[in-house]
Amino acid sequence: MAVQIIPTQPFSDQKPGTSGLRKRVTVFQAPHYLENFVQSIFDAIKAPAGSTLVVGGDGRFYNIEAIQIILKMAAANGFGHVLVGENGILSTPAASCVIRKYQTFGGIILSASHNPGGPQGDFGIKFNTANGGPAPEKVTEAIFVRSKEITQYKIIDAPDVALDALGETELAGMKVEVIDSVTDYVELMETLFDFEAIRQLLASGFRLRFDAMHAVTGPYARAILVDRLGAEASAVMNAVPLPDFGGGHPDPNLTYAHDLVEIMYGADAPDFGAASDGDGDRNMILGKHFFVTPSDSLALIAADARLVPGYVQGIAGVARSMPTSAAVDRVAEELDIPCFETPTGWKFFGNLMDAGKVTLCGEESFGTGSDHVREKDGLWAVLFWLNILAIKRQPVETIVKRHWARFGRNVYSRHDYEELPSAAAQGVIEHVRASFPVLEGKVLGRYTIKTCDDFSYTDPVDGSVSQKQGIRILFEDGSRIVFRLSGTGTEGATLRIYLEAFEPNASKHGLDAQEALGELIEIAHQISELKQRTGREQPTVIT
Ligand code: G1P
Ligand code: ZN
Repeated sequence: MAVQIIPTQPFSDQKPGTSGLRKRVTVFQAPHYLENFVQSIFDAIKAPAGSTLVVGGDGRFYNIEAIQIILKMAAANGFGHVLVGENGILSTPAASCVIRKYQTFGGIILSASHNPGGPQGDFGIKFNTANGGPAPEKVTEAIFVRSKEITQYKIIDAPDVALDALGETELAGMKVEVIDSVTDYVELMETLFDFEAIRQLLASGFRLRFDAMHAVTGPYARAILVDRLGAEASAVMNAVPLPDFGGGHPDPNLTYAHDLVEIMYGADAPDFGAASDGDGDRNMILGKHFFVTPSDSLALIAADARLVPGYVQGIAGVARSMPTSAAVDRVAEELDIPCFETPTGWKFFGNLMDAGKVTLCGEESFGTGSDHVREKDGLWAVLFWLNILAIKRQPVETIVKRHWARFGRNVYSRHDYEELPSAAAQGVIEHVRASFPVLEGKVLGRYTIKTCDDFSYTDPVDGSVSQKQGIRILFEDGSRIVFRLSGTGTEGATLRIYLEAFEPNASKHGLDAQEALGELIEIAHQISELKQRTGREQPTVIT
């Protein structure tokens, strides 16, 4: 099995975004496209000969084909051992778990997360380093630089490797080990949570529904919720992973997880509902007729962490992405622990966790996690909630409202405007940026603008600086509007508007978020000239 050296030419569009390289499947299928990027990764990371790599993905269309190419390229590039999930399946948090547990050099994860899949859908690829987390910007930048100068890639000419049975095979001197996709992850969860207490909760008549959205978490949720914790099989819905996610959009929010939302807001709703996304790192938490915002979920988990075995010693600190609400900041203040505000994207949390500065972190975009891995983790969040519920034995709504009564409520919503022409979306951002001087001090209804800025972050561990991470309009009373362009979309541009107001008064905590934020929403439109510049009045998705 000879190493082939294939001449190639660079593609100009292989810059990794918020979470790796994401493009339409058809783009990845173009000759040399995937190969160029994989070779750019290998060239940039400079793994010593004989290193071990983890490979797996969320099972979406093109997952297996891509894995076969990656295996042959890994062998040609001198890797000694690859751990690959059975049938190419590893959820993103499970991949992170495996990278750490077996102390590998890193891993390649194939996913476009919550973006739709199928032949016309999206595909994605990213590299995670030895700590199990997404490569930091200096690595992704080196990959991008390499992708612009690449002239050849290396690949073995060999038949495909069988990935449908556990065990070891050899590929041109490289060991390919097919591992169970679920076991290592389940074992890790058992060390963190009180499975017996959750088992008792479920045996007491407590009813739960988990929506796997035909994505990667189906087998994980079954193994944990049904096999280990005793939930009924029907508690896991849309449990069979499909290459096109059954035609759905595997994003666990109120718009896309509609099957679950209907059940949780219907007559005879279960006590607890949750969903995860395409690759298993996101989560949505619902109570009976009640939605828990991800920002509140993070704050609540932080406040009650000591109830859970894995966190009974307390937490070192917390971190949230800048657009995430400041609910967790209030908890950190009371616990007297540090709270970090980072740019959007999980990669910024890794340094803080490696340095022992934070235990829990989260994003408003349905991402919550801890230092047990270096990715956000959907099922982990679900188990955290179940563990808290098993101890408190109160409805989800009561738990959240008591939290608000104690800390105040950070009323929160995100409005997304998807598939905008890039120039128009960019125009909105530039217009708001250019308006800073006239906006500061301006009185708009009951709000007064205190300051405006472009969020910039200096990593407290390695000193690296990330600039222009979102535009913040900060009001005197602590309310905020943030404008940001998505870094994960594949078609046109997505403008995200994040809205937050603080409500200390418990008598107003029952208000619907959109209602409570009505005036801020109008201000956001006014100062951004959104309608004139994009022709849109209504967001595509509200979360
Ligand atoms: C989005 C979310 C961000 C998350 C990322 C990956 O990125 O907003 O919080 O880390 O997906 O799941 P964006 O499209 O906003 O760049
Ligand atoms: Zn995801």
